[in-house]
Amino acid sequence: MVDSVYRTRSLGVAAVGLPDQYADGKAAKVWQLYIGDTRSRTEEYRSWVVSLLKGRGCRRVLDVACGTGVDSIMLVEEGFDVMSVDASDKMLKYALKARWERRKEPAFDQWVIEEANWLTLPDDVQRPGNGFDAVICLGNSFAHLPDFKGDQSDQKLALHNIASMVKPGGVLIIDHRNYDYILDTGRAPQGKNVYYKSDLTQDITTSVLWVNSKPHMVTLDYTVQVPQLPGQQSPPELSKFRLSYYPHRVESFKELLQDAFQGKCEQSVYGDFRKDHLAHPNRCALLNDLD
Ligand SMILES: C[S@@+](CC[C@H](N)C(=O)[O-])C[C@H]1O[C@@H](n2cnc3c(N)ncnc32)[C@H](O)[C@@H]1O
Repeated sequence: MVDSVYRTRSLGVAAVGLPDQYADGKAAKVWQLYIGDTRSRTEEYRSWVVSLLKGRGCRRVLDVACGTGVDSIMLVEEGFDVMSVDASDKMLKYALKARWERRKEPAFDQWVIEEANWLTLPDDVQRPGNGFDAVICLGNSFAHLPDFKGDQSDQKLALHNIASMVKPGGVLIIDHRNYDYILDTGRAPQGKNVYYKSDLTQDITTSVLWVNSKPHMVTLDYTVQVPQLPGQQSPPELSKFRLSYYPHRVESFKELLQDAFQGKCEQSVYGDFRKDHLAHPNRCALLNDLD
């Protein structure tokens, strides 16, 4: 129903099974500019992820929404054994390119990158033994999954599939924008974005679509300044792209996750990657420690 009211993807782009919002290549092309240089990514965020994983003795990590590979590269560099998957070949193209360029480094040579969809994850990904030590789904990725049927059955299936990849005693780290704040106020929380560190993002406009008094979709319209690169003819330009999200409130998302793990997990919520920052964070991350 929502699809008929509001389009989540570019017109004319074919998408089999799942609407790939990145299929026109626009967002993928400027994603690296949007998130900023991976090396200069906020230290807070990098050390948060790495110390959580190292503190739990994780070695084998599955990144189920690797996109252009930004988190995965960070983990490969830190010595984790990483498998990275994503549904969008337009995004994966950049991860594959990064692996190719650094193929002489043994860690990058061994980095596994595959195409996979959360809705068919067990068919798409070979689970090692009883699972991965850690599964990550970061960058507000899970909210990309629309609820076209209106009963969250796709969300339940996807989370069940993602949870099935985590070994007993392992951890799932999943994050999203602060949709509680967005739904309550109609705009994104102000303040610095601890996750992406680009100076090139000029504007992100937030719209909320309500259907039958229920929030069904949050749409962000991004404007990113694309600088002229050395040796390039094309002048600097503004890139505009739109991404739409299914907004999860933290409390109901916790319940969905508990169901996915059949109640066998302990959860912690982090605001902007800090346990003590839960007032108006930009990002909410949920840590699920499996029994
Ligand atoms: C915002 S990007 C984030 C990528 C990366 N984690 C980062 O932080 O830059 C979201 C990613 O989720 C992927 N995605 C969306 N729906 C998916 C699905 N059903 N299965 C697998 N990947 C999906 C998209 O293709 C996209 O690359």
